[in-house]
Amino acid sequence: MTEPIDGAKQVRIIEHIKEMWETVMDARKNGRSIGLVPTMGALHRGHLSLIERAAAENDVTIVSIFVNPIQFDDKQDLGAYPRDLARDAASAAAVGANAIFAPSVSEMYPDGFSAYVDMTGISEALCGRVREAHFRGVCTVVAKLFHITDPDRAYFGEKDAQQAAVIKKMAADLNFNTEIVTCPTVRDTDGLALSSRNTRLDAAERNAAPCLYRALNAGAALFRSGESDAGKITEAVRAVLEAEPRARVDYAEIVDPASFRGVPKARSGDVLALAVYIGAVRLIDNLRL
Ligand code: PAF
Repeated sequence: MTEPIDGAKQVRIIEHIKEMWETVMDARKNGRSIGLVPTMGALHRGHLSLIERAAAENDVTIVSIFVNPIQFDDKQDLGAYPRDLARDAASAAAVGANAIFAPSVSEMYPDGFSAYVDMTGISEALCGRVREAHFRGVCTVVAKLFHITDPDRAYFGEKDAQQAAVIKKMAADLNFNTEIVTCPTVRDTDGLALSSRNTRLDAAERNAAPCLYRALNAGAALFRSGESDAGKITEAVRAVLEAEPRARVDYAEIVDPASFRGVPKARSGDVLALAVYIGAVRLIDNLRL
């Protein structure tokens, strides 16, 4: 027997797929709508804004916390990923989560696991180009989470603009009956986009990190002043980043928001996207022109 999840305040931590399924089936039987917020934990105000939105729009809000090994191309990055389930569960509950789905790696990927979701096109640009098999890992785990939690709506942050676009396309192409809701990037007062990776910056790196937002704004200002040559805009963006000794640019590109392919001439609505190493920590950010 599973306990029902409804609007109750206390949060349940569910580790097994079978229990999650049964819980979802109970909620469905009671006619409740389900919102899913997929995360890898280390929850910050950006995640909490997604959970709040999900709680406002659904009867039941499930937050998944799973550091998905198959989306990391770098073992060190995976090992260093911050983890604190008890703290995350308390923060998620405080803003309206009803259940935390926190499976183990072997629960999600038992021995012999061999089915993956591979996308072409949109997932091959930017992060897909520089991080091998990253979106294959993201799409596979998100497809599994959708099957396990059967959400009416799933919530993703605009900081990961390409991820949100890839997941929207996957959900459409594979006929998931889930609405993909994107929510605005949450920033610190100095403009740094909130990210679980920010906790890995030392004090000097944390001071350097707002150069991403300054660089994005420099590009956006040049575009607003009438410059549309994507090369010239990204040159101005790179100049800001290169002035920061702790920053190393992975990519700085202007892309079409539908295909995520680079454009020669920037148009209003295009995405100016950045991936930048600050020390050993890779941060991403973007701005709509
Ligand atoms: O954005 C993330 O935290 C992850 O990529 C996601 C969507 C939870 C899949 O592991």
